Amino acid sequence: MEFIKVTEQYQPGIALIQLNRPKELNALNKQLMEEVRDALQVFDKNDQVRVIIITGNEQAFAAGADIKQMADKSAIDMLLIDQFSTWDQIRKTKKPIIAAVSGFALGGGCEFAMTCDMIIASESAKFGQPEIKIGTIPGAGGTQRLTKAVGKAKAMELILTGRFLSAEEAHFYGLVNKVVPVEMYLHEAVELAKEIARMSPVAVQLAKEAINRSFETQLDEGLAFERKNFYMTFASEDQKEGMKAFVEKRKPEFKGR
Ligand code: HXC
Repeated sequence: MEFIKVTEQYQPGIALIQLNRPKELNALNKQLMEEVRDALQVFDKNDQVRVIIITGNEQAFAAGADIKQMADKSAIDMLLIDQFSTWDQIRKTKKPIIAAVSGFALGGGCEFAMTCDMIIASESAKFGQPEIKIGTIPGAGGTQRLTKAVGKAKAMELILTGRFLSAEEAHFYGLVNKVVPVEMYLHEAVELAKEIARMSPVAVQLAKEAINRSFETQLDEGLAFERKNFYMTFASEDQKEGMKAFVEKRKPEFKGR
């Protein structure tokens, strides 16, 4: 594992996955997501693991998909790379996953946290879908899950402006379960995990499956629609300009083409 650290028994019954690209604010490249997928599949088959916690570091849960990896890609490249099959496998994990979030959870990072089942946030957490600022849109469920979590009006504001949501606001809108001081967020996630780990693993699995079912059919359709439009932005000059500008550390000039 190059980009994540894995501890099978962080506490009895509780596995920990730590995203580990600190210099890049845990930007989610393809390999990192595949490593997460592989770890989750192993944990799902391991009876000694009841609950999984995914975390980053104090500064960043994850600042999004890796812009440098995507910047030059065409719509067809993106379609063929098919990174979302990995995300689909991640969301099929049977055991409960808690995201312990501190610092930036942006773009794919916010989407990744929302793909988990519960979120414990530190007071410094910042959630957002800033893809619009680099000429694209959320591609890993942001338009669907954020809308379901915070409602249409707030999701529109966040996705169309790229504004960030503070931990307090995220709690107010029901995006996160609890906000705690920075030094406590992992501890709090462990406490929640311990409580769930004491329950029947069969009942926990069935409950998770049933809760997800409450919006999964619509989610499948919504994700497919979002994905198509996300790929479509890679056919625009604005996406090329937006991502190039990020890499070159300057403001983008969008032309509407
Ligand atoms: C690649 C990234 C990155 C990203 C940060 N870095 N975010 N690299 N992809 N998403 C890198 C920077 O280039 C820099 O490396 C280093 O991490 C530190 O970042 P800085 O920008 O210097 O830090 P700071 O000034 O503190 O600003 C933090 C930040 C900013 C506000 C989070 O980095 C930022 O705006 N990042 C991009 C956020 C974003 O647009 N996310 C959405 C991506 S698209 P160097 O080597 O240059 O010093 C997306 C689509 C999802 O997620 C759909 C598919 C999954």
